[in-house]
Amino acid sequence: MKLFVTLLGVLALSFSTVVSAQEPIIIKFSHVTADNTPKGQGALKFKELAEKKLPGKVEVQVFPNSQLFADDQEMDALLLGDIQLLAPSLSKFDRYTKKLQVYDLPFLFKNLEAVDRFQKGPEGKELLNSMREKGIQGLAYWSNGMKQLSTSKPQLQRPEDVKGLKFRIQDSDVLQAQFKALEANPQKMAFSEVYQALQTGVVDGQENTWSNIYTQKFHEVQQSITETNHGVILYMVIANSDWWDSLPADIQKGLSEAMNEASEYANKLAYELNEHDRQQIVDAGRAKIHTLSDADLVEWRKKMEPVWKQYEADIGKDLIDAAIKANN
Ligand code: LMR
Repeated sequence: MKLFVTLLGVLALSFSTVVSAQEPIIIKFSHVTADNTPKGQGALKFKELAEKKLPGKVEVQVFPNSQLFADDQEMDALLLGDIQLLAPSLSKFDRYTKKLQVYDLPFLFKNLEAVDRFQKGPEGKELLNSMREKGIQGLAYWSNGMKQLSTSKPQLQRPEDVKGLKFRIQDSDVLQAQFKALEANPQKMAFSEVYQALQTGVVDGQENTWSNIYTQKFHEVQQSITETNHGVILYMVIANSDWWDSLPADIQKGLSEAMNEASEYANKLAYELNEHDRQQIVDAGRAKIHTLSDADLVEWRKKMEPVWKQYEADIGKDLIDAAIKANN
């Protein structure tokens, strides 16, 4: 009996040694913005929570600022399994689904609350699973903010003021159509290349949130920023679906909980960070911020909204209608 108990003890000890010696699962989370942005803060919060909930079982490594991959390479890296998590802007999924293009339609969502209502509704939730057959699992939506137009011109007031100007855009056909509707020249380009392209005059302007404009210093190489709020920059946190499905149940559960909490945190912070960075741009005194009258905004909308009809068949009228409904 005594020998049996001792044997059990030895077995238990060696088992626990094996378990504790097991290496944590390394989760590489790559993204393209700075740490002090909504996405940067969300990624760091996810790391903190995941490692707290799953001590010794996971290690989350966050790589901000296109340090590891620029946004024209990161999706391939995820599909190849070189990294495990990404949070690309919803404008960068063209190649994988046309449905997410709903988020790029100009002046569709009136604010981030409307976006939130849409994402929590059945249509928004379903979109998280819309790329599974391409090997991509959506885990959560994160917000950044409303887009503004920055340019090398001293002022934009009316839509005709951008005629002929070159604008950097994200990799999205809808955004291309949007600038063509304004008779401007859109140019697709990775986020990491924008500052230099603005500085050297390769492009005259770009569209982005206050947070991205400030943290990438675009306001230092642009003359003005027009507060158009004409669109949104939002993210989907995604995983390689084979990798996600292969995780042990307790790990998947812990990571899902960490993701939900980090999403709530990041989405609450997004508005605040954008307001803060707008003020930082005002205080820096470089690019001047111009606001538009309601009458001017009507003109911008009129010029850009035909893009909705142009992409209705690709996106699906049901999705566009659900987004419109979320505004009320
Ligand atoms: C951009 O490319 O302008 C943005 O999508 C960058 C980002 O991830 O916020």
